[in-house]
Amino acid sequence: MKIVNARLRGSSGLYSIDFDGAYFSSITPQDRQLTSDTGSIDARSRLVCAPFVEPHIHLDAALTAGQPRWNKSGTLFEGIECWSDRKSMLEPDDIRNRALETLEQLVSHGVQYVRTHADISDPSLVGLKTLCSLRDELSDKIHIQVAAFPQEGLLSYPRGLQLMEQAIESGADVIGAIPHFEYTREMGESSLKEIIRLAGAHDCLVDVHCDEIDDPNSRFLEVLAAEALFAGMGSRVTASHTTAMHSYDNAYCSKLFRLLKHSGINFISCPTESIHLQGRFDTYPKRRGVTRVKELDAAGINVCFAEDSIRDPWYSLGNGRLLRVLDFGLHICHMMGHEDFVRALDFITDHSARTLGIEKDYGIAPGKPANCILLDGEDDYDVLRRQSDVLLSIRQGQIIFQREPAQVVTPKHLSVNA
Ligand code: FE2
Repeated sequence: MKIVNARLRGSSGLYSIDFDGAYFSSITPQDRQLTSDTGSIDARSRLVCAPFVEPHIHLDAALTAGQPRWNKSGTLFEGIECWSDRKSMLEPDDIRNRALETLEQLVSHGVQYVRTHADISDPSLVGLKTLCSLRDELSDKIHIQVAAFPQEGLLSYPRGLQLMEQAIESGADVIGAIPHFEYTREMGESSLKEIIRLAGAHDCLVDVHCDEIDDPNSRFLEVLAAEALFAGMGSRVTASHTTAMHSYDNAYCSKLFRLLKHSGINFISCPTESIHLQGRFDTYPKRRGVTRVKELDAAGINVCFAEDSIRDPWYSLGNGRLLRVLDFGLHICHMMGHEDFVRALDFITDHSARTLGIEKDYGIAPGKPANCILLDGEDDYDVLRRQSDVLLSIRQGQIIFQREPAQVVTPKHLSVNA
């Protein structure tokens, strides 16, 4: 297979992309438009880029909004209560069918890599086991990492630590914690130390729901970063949400960033979810409750965007379209300068791949797996502005789907020549 007349991120001009089976074989600059022939795809001067990455989603809870009741307060904590009620009704087929439908939505919007959390505050571990089975079943179609997530506390939930050890035995790739939800600060700190210890012992990645609260005194991030630093595993550790950082004192933040840079941990922000769930205890002014993405990025710290929820007890919208999340994130974080737009896709591609630890096999370069998407736009700015459709998705050299560009079929109402 071959793609001709493609634009690539960060480059001017047009390129031909050659495939050798499941791998890219060469990327060649063109000096003119080429005519496509049989077996080649004409990108028509549109952008070919690496597939989108969804680094933080809850597939076990997806599509359950309103079951058995709606989250009326819009808070994280009522969401956890609603989910606790729904969780008692979970069955493998129920989880599997909703996860598959959600993955279909993600794939149709250009995603080929997913990290899903699975709630393990459940003695049956049905969510984790079902998602691990689905991961293995779909391994040649989509890359899935399963994170064991103790939604109701690693230490506060009965036998939480033993359930985490069972989750690791059952095949979790990633392990997590929720320190701000533990009963006490001491338990929150201990939960992070336990997770780093377990990750080191079992060679797991770490992804913590960290400081997902507006409380400026929620400072578990410094504990996570220090533990990761001293364990020498910073690049394998991720702090998700960190919304309390929005409310931290600037002097404390300045000191904190030194540690964050030394530790090398990754960050995931979920801007649509956080702006909905946070600020709920404020009157006016209302905090945005989104972590300091712009400042983290400027400090050279790896940070990416995720959707977190698709129609679940915490967030009842969502559709798998990461360009929408990126649009929200850039607005909310004041990242609206031209210098932000020209590299906007970094936050749903390269940065996310680094968070998942898959960067070695990710990207468009000779010798890498032939995974890519074709977007209906010329560059990052154009794609973001137009919220472009994904016209083509290729995985391991095979076309997953193709979509024709949308066209207006009615007469040109405003045409001066009409
Ligand atoms: Fe989450």
